[in-house]
Amino acid sequence: MCVGGGVPSGGRVRREIQPILDRNCVRCHDAKHPKLDLTGAPFPDDKVWRISKNYYNPKRAWTQSYVNLTAHGNPDACKWMKWLKPRSRTTMLPPYHTGSCKSEIFKKFDGAHHGAKLTDNEKRVFACWIDLLCPFSGSFAEANTWTEDEKRIFLHFQGKRVKYAERELTDFLSETARRK
Ligand code: HEC
Repeated sequence: MCVGGGVPSGGRVRREIQPILDRNCVRCHDAKHPKLDLTGAPFPDDKVWRISKNYYNPKRAWTQSYVNLTAHGNPDACKWMKWLKPRSRTTMLPPYHTGSCKSEIFKKFDGAHHGAKLTDNEKRVFACWIDLLCPFSGSFAEANTWTEDEKRIFLHFQGKRVKYAERELTDFLSETARRK
């Protein structure tokens, strides 16, 4: 997820986190679990109170697991995970101030919680995801719920980005050739 070369794939819940939950948790934490649905089923957009309502609507196809696990994207209300807030203090933070090391959820990964036991690699991926501040998508376009008009706007600006990148590379190559 966050290691290795090439283009980073980001902390995509659907590709990296949901499979871990599917393997270890959803046999109990399905839609019928009274407190915590950890499935990848859609979470209705209008019921997400912090991530979208009264805040802004990011137009994202949230999953039950994501909204429930992150307490609607609110680290203050989340009992199981602590991640850095955008408005955390700006002075230097002490070591282990927040993040995976302060997240109770890891107590559910070692077999003590109804036998759920993650592999070391699964734990690492989960810790990495928390320390990346629990992102839902790995790219702006992933899991979007845009209208056709919004998709056209997106493509228009992506087209511009490609043209700028082409220009940069052309200039870079001609500068390099000139200095030889
Ligand atoms: C064999 C069934 C079972 C499995 C597997 C399981 N759980 Fe649970 N979980 C429960 C039950 C039952 C409860 C409610 C009672 C309790 O806390 O034990 C619960 C409660 C919880 C709670 C607390 C909910 C609250 O509101 O207090 C969390 C967080 C949680 N589970 C996370 C997980 C995660 C993450 C996994 C997978 C790694 C997992 N569970 C796997 C059965 C399970």
